[in-house]
This record gives sequence, structure tokens and C-alpha cells, in this order.
Amino acid sequence: MTSPRPSPSIPRNLDPKTLRQLFNEGTRLLGGVSYPALEARVLLLHAASLEEKEFYSNPGARPSGKVEGRFLSLIGRRLAGHPLDHLTGRKEFWSLPFKVGPGVLVPRPETELVVEKTIELAAGRRLSILDVGTGSGNIAIALSRELPLARITAVDISARALKIARANAAVLGAAGVRFVRSDLFSAFRKARPLFDVIVSNPPYVSQREWTGLAAEVRDHEPKRALVGGDRGTEFIGKLIRLAHGYLRSGGRIVMEIGAGQKDDVRTLFGDGWDEIEFARDLAGAPRVVSARKRRVRPTSS
Ligand SMILES: C[S@@+](CC[C@H](N)C(=O)[O-])C[C@H]1O[C@@H](n2cnc3c(N)ncnc32)[C@H](O)[C@@H]1O
Repeated sequence: MTSPRPSPSIPRNLDPKTLRQLFNEGTRLLGGVSYPALEARVLLLHAASLEEKEFYSNPGARPSGKVEGRFLSLIGRRLAGHPLDHLTGRKEFWSLPFKVGPGVLVPRPETELVVEKTIELAAGRRLSILDVGTGSGNIAIALSRELPLARITAVDISARALKIARANAAVLGAAGVRFVRSDLFSAFRKARPLFDVIVSNPPYVSQREWTGLAAEVRDHEPKRALVGGDRGTEFIGKLIRLAHGYLRSGGRIVMEIGAGQKDDVRTLFGDGWDEIEFARDLAGAPRVVSARKRRVRPTSS
């Protein structure tokens, strides 16, 4: 009788490897990704449920064969194109660990500029804020932590995204954020509330750009979260038009836009808006627009 052969991808754990050996092996296997050592470390820490400092203080520790198996399986999935953040299930945004997964956009660092601009505008006042297309809840939750006096509502068309957003709010101390499933403002058509600020990181990628995105993004992140129409700015245009009806006079919209969309986006604001300003990201590109709903002057009698 022949004995069972070990799996080719997961070597038999006759001699458990040290963390350092696993890290080196992972780095070698991940040679084709942009930052192999960084990703190997992230995946190893995740597989072993270790903090970074535990890894550095005892790299000679020998974790169990289960950890090694988990690590190699994560590396296999990474090599098959799964985004790193989906494998760990976490992404840091505004220094907070957000749960992420299939069905929700992984928060990007440039979106922190939307949070920054909104905090500046709020200047400690008690505002009502609406986040349109909340995804993982990153913007709404970061704002709720920074602006404890604010009343924050967050909407998304995706039930899957809202489930993750609600879980994030519960864990990250933002239980006050109200999450509502809504296609843009559809949930508010009857009540017609007026907000002080509407924030959004809307879908703004054009159909053509989408086909050219890295497979890791195109095949694993929701298309509805990324594509804003044929040109890319259609969703932004609709959001600007509708937002006007849900803002108080003098209220603001703060929104992320694609690099290179500044001029197109400026033309989407009509007469009903003023103080249209663009903030630049770290690379110097205008990536966040803010605009004020023009104040209605009282008519003199
Ligand atoms: C670019 S993602 C932003 C997610 C998150 N706010 C962030 O910054 O990572 C856009 C979000 O808008 C949502 N969305 C797309 N179309 C929508 C619509 N018609 N109404 C409401 N949300 C929509 C998507 O489900 C997605 O979560």
C-alpha cells in the first residue's frame, strides 16, 4: 500500500519553521507583487494572530503547523489575485481598523481628505451630516468620532455594504451613526430632511478606465462602487443636482472626485452653488471639491 503524498502547496510540517523562516519563504513566494516583504509580514501576522512587536521581539519562535498552513494558503490566494486587504479582512482608515470584504470598497487613503475638509467646515458646530455611498462606513464613522456633536446619517444602495458598515460602527465606537438603505436620496423623498453637510466618495471611474484597472481591483471590488457612468462624472452630476434639494441654505457638499475631473466637475455646479473650492491630495492633484448651496437673500419689502 502506498502512503498518502503530502500536498504540493503545503509542505509537511516535519520540522516546524521559525517565524523568520516563514517570513523569508513568504517573501520569496510573493516575488511578483509590488511589496513582497511587506505583504509577507502582513499575512504572516494575520495567520499567526500576532502583533508586529511580537514578531520582531521573537522571530525565532516556531508557530504550529496550522499557522504555517494558513500562511501558505493566504499566499496562494494572494498569488491568485485576491486583494491583500480582503485576505486580512481589515483596512486602516483615519487610524481606525475597518472590517472589509467582498461587496464593499476598500477605503483608500485619499478619501481621508474628505474627512479632513468636513472637520474644518464643521469647526466644532452641531451639524447634521449625510454620507452618500457609505461603503464600509469609513467617512461617516471617522466623522462621528471626530465630531461627537454631529448627527450623522449614512446611506448606501448595497445591503452588503451596509451590513459591514453597521458592524464597523458598533466596533469602532460610532453607534450613533444611522445607516439607511437608499438609492441616492430615495429613502428621504417623503420626509425631505435638510442637512447641513452632504459628504460623499461617489463612484467616479469611467467605463473605459474601469476596463483598464488592475485585475485585483476590477475582479474583486464592486463595479457599482467604482463606475460613475460612461464618462465617469455622471453619478457626481446627479448627486450635485439632487443634493441641492436636501441641503439647508448655506449648506455644503464635500465630495471626492477623480484626478483630472476638476474642470468637468466645476461645470456640473449651476447657479444654485457658490464657494466652489478644490483641495489637493498629497500628489498635488485636486481630489476633493466643496461647494456651498447659495444662500437665499430675504427679499426686501
Ligand atoms: C466609491 S464607493 C465609496 C465607499 C466608501 N464611502 C469609501 O470611501 O470607501 C461608492 C459607494 O456608493 C455606493 N453606491 C453606488 N450607487 C449608489 C446609489 N445609487 N445610491 C447609494 N449608494 C450608491 C456603492 O455601493 C459604494 O459603497
